[in-house]
Amino acid sequence: MKKDFSFLGNAKTVAVVCNQWGDTGKGKIIDFLTPWADIVARGTGGANAGHTICYQGREFVTHLLPSSIFHDCDGKISIIGSGVAFDPRQCLEELGALQEAGYPSRQLRISRHSKLVLPQHILLDQLSGIRKDSDAIGTTGRGIGPAYADYYNRCSLFVGDLFHRDTFVKKLRLNLEEKIARLRAYDHHLVEQICRQQRLGNGAYFHPDSMLDPEAIVEDYTGFFADQLREYVTDTTEIMRASLGKKRILLEGAQGYLLSIEYGSYPYVTSSDCSIEGLAKGVGLNVGDVDLTFGAVKAFYMTRVGKGAFPTECGGLVSDEHCGQITREQEKAEYSRVNVNDPDSLRQGIAIRMRGNEYGATTGRPRRVGWLDLALLRQALRVNGNDIILTKVDVLDECEEIKLCTAYRYAGEQFFLGRDTIKHGEQFFTVFPDNAFLKSCEPVYQSFPGWLTSTSGLRSYADLPKNMRAIIEYIERETGAVVRMVSVGPDREQTIIR
Ligand code: GDP
Ligand code: IMO
Ligand code: MG
Repeated sequence: MKKDFSFLGNAKTVAVVCNQWGDTGKGKIIDFLTPWADIVARGTGGANAGHTICYQGREFVTHLLPSSIFHDCDGKISIIGSGVAFDPRQCLEELGALQEAGYPSRQLRISRHSKLVLPQHILLDQLSGIRKDSDAIGTTGRGIGPAYADYYNRCSLFVGDLFHRDTFVKKLRLNLEEKIARLRAYDHHLVEQICRQQRLGNGAYFHPDSMLDPEAIVEDYTGFFADQLREYVTDTTEIMRASLGKKRILLEGAQGYLLSIEYGSYPYVTSSDCSIEGLAKGVGLNVGDVDLTFGAVKAFYMTRVGKGAFPTECGGLVSDEHCGQITREQEKAEYSRVNVNDPDSLRQGIAIRMRGNEYGATTGRPRRVGWLDLALLRQALRVNGNDIILTKVDVLDECEEIKLCTAYRYAGEQFFLGRDTIKHGEQFFTVFPDNAFLKSCEPVYQSFPGWLTSTSGLRSYADLPKNMRAIIEYIERETGAVVRMVSVGPDREQTIIR
C-alpha cells in the first residue's frame, strides 16, 4: 500500500525519539516512516536498545542496526553514527540473522568514529551488575556504560582502529592497563564464567592470570571482525552533512529522554544523551538541523526496565521487587487470570504488562508498568519538542478507568535547593527527574472513563473512540503536546496519522 507522508510537510530531516524510559515503539515508527526517507541514522546507545518491527505476521528485533534495515533492498541507506557504542560481534550477528531471513544489508554504513565496545566493557558492565545492593543500576549488560566512560576518559578505541593493527594494539594495551588491576580483584571463577558467554567469544578472551588476553582480542577484532565489517565503514558524518537539506533524513532515537545521561533520572540512566540533542550530535548534525522531531509516548501508561524511581508505578515498590525476581514465563503461568481492571494495583500492572507484552526486547526482563506521568512528559517536551506520537493505545482497550498523573505532591522532608526550599505538600506540574526527589513525590491523579472497545483495526483519528480522544485532547491542553500519530498495534499498517 502506498503511504501518504504529506503530514511531514516540507521537512527534510525528521527524528523519532522517546519521551519516556524507552520501549515506546520507536522501531515500529521508524519502520513505518522509512519509505519516506533516503537515509536513516542512529546516533546514540548501542546494543542495549531493542527495537521491534512487525509486519505480515513476522517479528524482528534490532539492537544495533537501524530499524530501517528491512528496507535496504529499496535502496534506503542505514547509518550507525559516531555517537553509537558499537559492538562488532553483535553487528555481525544481526547482519547474519538478516541475511538468513532473506534481507540484504548492502546500504549499511558504519561511522569510523563509533566507539568500540570491547570484551572488557561487557565484562565490567556485567560484574558491576552482580552487586546485589540497591544501588545496582540494572543495566542491560551490553558494555555500554564502560565503553562511554572510556570515551570521556580519553582511552577509547574506535571502529576505524580495527583496520590499523599497530594502532589497535597500542590503544588496547593502554585501555586494558588499569582495567586488568580492577579485574584481578574479582573472583577468577566468576570472571571466567562471564567470559564463557557467547557475546564474549565463548571464553576465547579469558586469561587465568590477567583475566583478559589482549592477543586473543587483537586477533579477532583486527582479523575476522575487521574483514567482515570493512565494506560498511566510512565517514558517515560526511554523508550526513552532504545530504542535509538535499535528501530525506530520518533519525532513529534509542532509549528515552528519562534515561538520558543529561536529562534523565540520574544515576539510573544509560550513558548517552538519548534526547534529540544527543541524537543529532551522534549522527554528526546540530539539533537545529532537525526540521521535525517526534517524541514517542506510550498511551496512557509508561514502562521502565531496570532500577530507579518510578512514581506512578502500579504496585509501587512491591512491583519493582516483583519485576526484579520473576521471569516472563513464571509470570505468565502464575498470573494468567489477572485482568486490567483488577482493584489491586500490583495485579492491574501485571495485567497491563501481559496485555502489552511488556518484557524487555533485549534482556527479556519484565518491564515495570505505571500510569502516564504528565509532570515528566512536560519536562521531556521542553527538550524534545511538542510533536508526539502516542503508541500502544490498544493495550488499554479493556480498561474501565484510565488514570493520568497530572502533577506531583512533594511528600518528603524540607528539601533544600540552595536559595529555594521545597516544602512538604508543595505541588509541581513539571519536574526535573532527579532520582532522590522523584522518590519523595506522590502523583496527583485524574481519572477518565475508558473506551472499552477494540481499537487495533481503526485507521483514522476520527474513528478513535470518543473517550480516548477526550484523554488525548486533555493531554494536549495540559502539556502543550500535539499528537501527530497514533499507533494502534505492533504492525506497520496499524498506524494512524492525524
Ligand atoms: P522501542 O525500543 O521503542 O523500539 O520499543 P520496543 O520494540 O522495545 O517495545 C515496543 C513493543 O510494543 C514491541 O513489542 C512492539 O512490537 C510493540 N508495539 C509497538 N507499537 C505498538 C502498538 O501500537 N500496539 C501494541 N499492542 N504493540 C505495539
Ligand atoms: P530502547 O532503545 C529500555 C536501561 C536499562 C538500565 C539503564 C542502563 O529499546 O528503548 P545500560 O545497559 O544502557 O547501561 O542500562 O538503561 N535501558 C533501556 N531501557 N529501553 C532501552 O532501549 C534501554 N536501554 C537501556 O534497563 O535501566
Ligand atoms: Mg526497546
